[in-house]
Amino acid sequence: MQLTYLSHACFLIEGGRSRIIIDPFLKDNPSAPMAPDEVEVDYVLVTHGHPDHLGDAVPIANRCGATLVAPFELGFFCERQGAENVHTMHIGGSHAFRFGTLKMTPAFHGSGYPGEQGMIYTGNPCGYLIRVEDKTIYHAGDTGLMAEMKLLGELNRIDVALLPIGDNYTMGEEDALHAARFLKARKVVPMHFGTFPVLTPDAEEFASNAEAAGIDVHPLGIRETLVM
Ligand code: NI
Ligand code: MN
Repeated sequence: MQLTYLSHACFLIEGGRSRIIIDPFLKDNPSAPMAPDEVEVDYVLVTHGHPDHLGDAVPIANRCGATLVAPFELGFFCERQGAENVHTMHIGGSHAFRFGTLKMTPAFHGSGYPGEQGMIYTGNPCGYLIRVEDKTIYHAGDTGLMAEMKLLGELNRIDVALLPIGDNYTMGEEDALHAARFLKARKVVPMHFGTFPVLTPDAEEFASNAEAAGIDVHPLGIRETLVM
Protein backbone atom coordinates (compact mmCIF):
# COMPACT_ATOMS: atom_id res chain seq x y z
CA MET A 1 0.00 0.00 0.00
CA GLN A 2 1.26 3.46 -0.89
CA LEU A 3 0.11 6.77 0.52
CA THR A 4 1.00 9.99 -1.33
CA TYR A 5 0.38 13.49 -0.01
CA LEU A 6 -1.11 15.85 -2.59
CA SER A 7 -1.26 18.89 -0.25
CA HIS A 8 -3.92 20.22 2.13
CA ALA A 9 -6.17 17.25 3.07
CA CYS A 10 -5.70 15.45 -0.24
CA PHE A 11 -4.04 12.02 -0.33
CA LEU A 12 -3.74 9.31 -2.94
CA ILE A 13 -3.84 5.70 -1.75
CA GLU A 14 -2.69 2.94 -4.08
CA GLY A 15 -3.46 -0.60 -3.00
CA GLY A 16 -6.01 -3.37 -3.21
CA ARG A 17 -5.90 -3.13 -7.04
CA SER A 18 -7.29 0.39 -6.74
CA ARG A 19 -6.36 4.04 -6.69
CA ILE A 20 -8.24 6.14 -4.16
CA ILE A 21 -8.10 9.93 -3.81
CA ILE A 22 -9.41 11.73 -0.73
CA ASP A 23 -10.61 15.37 -0.70
CA PRO A 24 -9.18 16.31 -4.12
CA PHE A 25 -8.76 20.06 -3.80
CA LEU A 26 -6.45 20.82 -6.74
CA LYS A 27 -7.69 23.42 -9.24
CA ASP A 28 -8.05 26.34 -6.78
CA ASN A 29 -5.29 25.17 -4.43
CA PRO A 30 -2.07 27.20 -4.62
CA SER A 31 -0.06 24.23 -3.26
CA ALA A 32 -1.52 21.56 -5.54
CA PRO A 33 1.16 19.45 -7.25
CA MET A 34 -1.02 18.55 -10.22
CA ALA A 35 -4.10 19.55 -12.19
CA PRO A 36 -7.36 17.65 -11.69
CA ASP A 37 -7.00 16.31 -15.26
CA GLU A 38 -3.82 14.44 -14.31
CA VAL A 39 -5.54 12.36 -11.64
CA GLU A 40 -6.38 8.75 -12.51
CA VAL A 41 -8.39 6.99 -9.83
CA ASP A 42 -11.07 4.38 -9.18
CA TYR A 43 -12.52 6.00 -6.05
CA VAL A 44 -12.97 9.57 -4.83
CA LEU A 45 -13.72 9.98 -1.10
CA VAL A 46 -15.03 13.29 0.20
CA THR A 47 -15.24 14.23 3.88
CA HIS A 48 -17.45 17.34 3.71
CA GLY A 49 -18.85 20.03 1.44
CA HIS A 50 -16.34 22.84 2.03
CA PRO A 51 -14.68 23.84 -1.25
CA ASP A 52 -11.17 22.97 0.00
CA HIS A 53 -12.32 19.31 0.35
CA LEU A 54 -15.08 18.75 -2.21
CA GLY A 55 -12.75 20.54 -4.63
CA ASP A 56 -12.65 18.78 -7.99
CA ALA A 57 -14.28 15.57 -6.77
CA VAL A 58 -17.19 15.57 -9.26
CA PRO A 59 -15.22 16.27 -12.47
CA ILE A 60 -12.45 13.82 -11.45
CA ALA A 61 -14.91 11.03 -10.62
CA ASN A 62 -16.85 11.53 -13.87
CA ARG A 63 -13.78 11.70 -16.12
CA CYS A 64 -12.26 8.59 -14.50
CA GLY A 65 -15.51 6.65 -14.24
CA ALA A 66 -14.70 6.46 -10.52
CA THR A 67 -17.09 5.92 -7.61
CA LEU A 68 -17.57 9.05 -5.51
CA VAL A 69 -18.12 8.22 -1.82
CA ALA A 70 -19.65 10.81 0.50
CA PRO A 71 -22.07 11.18 3.42
CA PHE A 72 -25.69 10.92 2.22
CA GLU A 73 -26.54 14.63 1.99
CA LEU A 74 -23.26 15.56 0.33
CA GLY A 75 -23.61 12.65 -2.10
CA PHE A 76 -27.05 13.98 -3.07
CA PHE A 77 -25.54 17.43 -3.63
CA CYS A 78 -22.82 15.87 -5.81
CA GLU A 79 -25.46 14.07 -7.90
CA ARG A 80 -27.19 17.41 -8.42
CA GLN A 81 -23.83 18.77 -9.57
CA GLY A 82 -23.69 16.02 -12.19
CA ALA A 83 -21.82 13.20 -10.43
CA GLU A 84 -22.62 9.98 -12.28
CA ASN A 85 -21.56 7.27 -9.85
CA VAL A 86 -22.11 8.09 -6.18
CA HIS A 87 -22.05 5.74 -3.21
CA THR A 88 -23.48 7.35 -0.09
CA MET A 89 -22.83 6.18 3.47
CA HIS A 90 -23.23 7.60 6.93
CA ILE A 91 -21.37 7.84 10.21
CA GLY A 92 -20.78 4.47 11.84
CA GLY A 93 -21.48 2.55 8.65
CA SER A 94 -19.00 0.29 6.83
CA HIS A 95 -19.06 -0.97 3.29
CA ALA A 96 -16.86 -3.37 1.29
CA PHE A 97 -15.36 -2.02 -1.91
CA ARG A 98 -12.90 -3.59 -4.36
CA PHE A 99 -9.89 -2.25 -2.41
CA GLY A 100 -11.10 -3.29 1.04
CA THR A 101 -13.51 -1.69 3.47
CA LEU A 102 -14.43 1.81 4.37
CA LYS A 103 -15.98 2.98 7.63
CA MET A 104 -17.37 6.46 7.97
CA THR A 105 -16.36 8.16 11.24
CA PRO A 106 -17.58 11.33 12.93
CA ALA A 107 -15.92 14.73 12.67
CA PHE A 108 -16.62 17.89 14.68
CA HIS A 109 -16.88 20.50 11.97
CA GLY A 110 -19.35 22.01 9.47
CA SER A 111 -20.34 20.90 6.00
CA GLY A 112 -21.76 23.43 3.57
CA TYR A 113 -21.07 24.64 0.07
CA PRO A 114 -21.08 28.43 -0.45
CA GLY A 115 -23.26 28.69 -3.57
CA GLU A 116 -24.36 31.84 -5.40
CA GLN A 117 -27.70 31.86 -3.54
CA GLY A 118 -26.02 31.37 -0.16
CA MET A 119 -24.78 28.42 1.86
CA ILE A 120 -26.04 25.01 0.75
CA TYR A 121 -25.80 22.71 3.76
CA THR A 122 -24.52 19.23 3.01
CA GLY A 123 -25.18 17.37 6.26
CA ASN A 124 -22.58 16.14 8.72
CA PRO A 125 -18.89 16.12 7.95
CA CYS A 126 -17.02 12.84 8.35
CA GLY A 127 -13.69 11.07 8.51
CA TYR A 128 -12.80 7.65 7.09
CA LEU A 129 -11.22 4.45 8.32
CA ILE A 130 -9.82 2.92 5.15
CA ARG A 131 -8.75 -0.72 5.23
CA VAL A 132 -6.49 -1.66 2.35
CA GLU A 133 -4.22 -4.72 2.21
CA ASP A 134 -4.34 -5.34 5.98
CA LYS A 135 -3.48 -1.73 6.72
CA THR A 136 -5.82 0.75 8.38
CA ILE A 137 -5.55 4.39 7.45
CA TYR A 138 -7.55 6.97 9.36
CA HIS A 139 -8.29 10.25 7.57
CA ALA A 140 -9.78 12.52 10.25
CA GLY A 141 -11.30 15.02 7.81
CA ASP A 142 -11.57 18.54 9.21
CA THR A 143 -12.27 18.23 12.92
CA GLY A 144 -11.54 19.49 16.37
CA LEU A 145 -10.23 17.14 19.00
CA MET A 146 -12.99 14.75 20.07
CA ALA A 147 -13.43 12.01 22.64
CA GLU A 148 -14.58 9.67 19.84
CA MET A 149 -10.94 9.41 18.82
CA LYS A 150 -10.30 7.49 22.01
CA LEU A 151 -12.92 4.96 20.98
CA LEU A 152 -11.49 4.73 17.47
CA GLY A 153 -8.09 3.99 19.00
CA GLU A 154 -9.47 1.34 21.31
CA LEU A 155 -11.47 -0.48 18.66
CA ASN A 156 -9.09 -0.25 15.71
CA ARG A 157 -5.45 -0.95 15.06
CA ILE A 158 -4.67 2.24 13.15
CA ASP A 159 -1.47 2.01 11.11
CA VAL A 160 -1.44 5.62 9.99
CA ALA A 161 -3.53 8.58 11.12
CA LEU A 162 -3.84 11.63 8.86
CA LEU A 163 -4.53 14.52 11.25
CA PRO A 164 -5.21 18.21 10.66
CA ILE A 165 -2.82 20.50 12.54
CA GLY A 166 -3.58 23.87 10.90
CA ASP A 167 -5.63 25.41 13.74
CA ASN A 168 -8.34 28.07 13.24
CA TYR A 169 -10.76 25.78 11.33
CA THR A 170 -9.57 22.47 12.84
CA MET A 171 -7.39 21.12 15.65
CA GLY A 172 -4.14 22.92 16.15
CA GLU A 173 -0.82 21.29 16.90
CA GLU A 174 -1.41 20.77 20.61
CA ASP A 175 -4.78 19.09 20.20
CA ALA A 176 -3.42 17.00 17.32
CA LEU A 177 -0.89 15.55 19.81
CA HIS A 178 -3.78 14.57 22.10
CA ALA A 179 -5.57 13.08 19.08
CA ALA A 180 -2.49 11.03 18.19
CA ARG A 181 -2.41 9.62 21.74
CA PHE A 182 -6.14 8.88 21.73
CA LEU A 183 -5.89 7.08 18.40
CA LYS A 184 -2.79 5.06 19.36
CA ALA A 185 -1.81 5.28 15.72
CA ARG A 186 1.44 3.60 14.70
CA LYS A 187 2.26 6.58 12.51
CA VAL A 188 0.92 10.11 12.26
CA VAL A 189 0.98 12.21 9.10
CA PRO A 190 0.04 15.89 9.58
CA MET A 191 -2.24 17.64 7.08
CA HIS A 192 -4.31 20.80 6.58
CA PHE A 193 -1.49 23.28 7.22
CA GLY A 194 0.31 25.89 5.13
CA THR A 195 -2.28 26.17 2.34
CA PHE A 196 -3.77 29.47 3.50
CA PRO A 197 -2.15 32.27 5.55
CA VAL A 198 -4.52 31.63 8.51
CA LEU A 199 -3.26 28.05 8.96
CA THR A 200 -0.16 26.86 10.83
CA PRO A 201 2.55 27.45 8.18
CA ASP A 202 4.38 24.12 8.37
CA ALA A 203 4.59 20.84 10.26
CA GLU A 204 8.07 21.27 11.73
CA GLU A 205 7.12 22.27 15.26
CA PHE A 206 4.39 19.64 15.39
CA ALA A 207 6.83 16.99 14.21
CA SER A 208 9.45 17.84 16.83
CA ASN A 209 6.89 18.01 19.65
CA ALA A 210 5.34 14.74 18.53
CA GLU A 211 8.73 13.07 18.37
CA ALA A 212 9.56 14.34 21.85
CA ALA A 213 6.26 12.84 23.04
CA GLY A 214 7.23 9.45 21.61
CA ILE A 215 4.82 9.61 18.67
CA ASP A 216 6.03 8.19 15.37
CA VAL A 217 5.36 11.22 13.21
CA HIS A 218 6.01 11.11 9.50
CA PRO A 219 5.44 14.48 7.80
CA LEU A 220 5.10 14.04 4.05
CA GLY A 221 6.23 16.69 1.60
CA ILE A 222 3.88 17.41 -1.26
CA ARG A 223 3.95 14.48 -3.70
CA GLU A 224 5.99 12.43 -1.21
CA THR A 225 4.98 8.80 -0.75
CA LEU A 226 4.88 6.55 2.31
CA VAL A 227 5.11 2.84 1.46
CA MET A 228 3.65 0.47 4.04
NI1 NI B 1 -13.73 22.31 6.28
MN1 MN C 1 -10.71 22.47 5.34
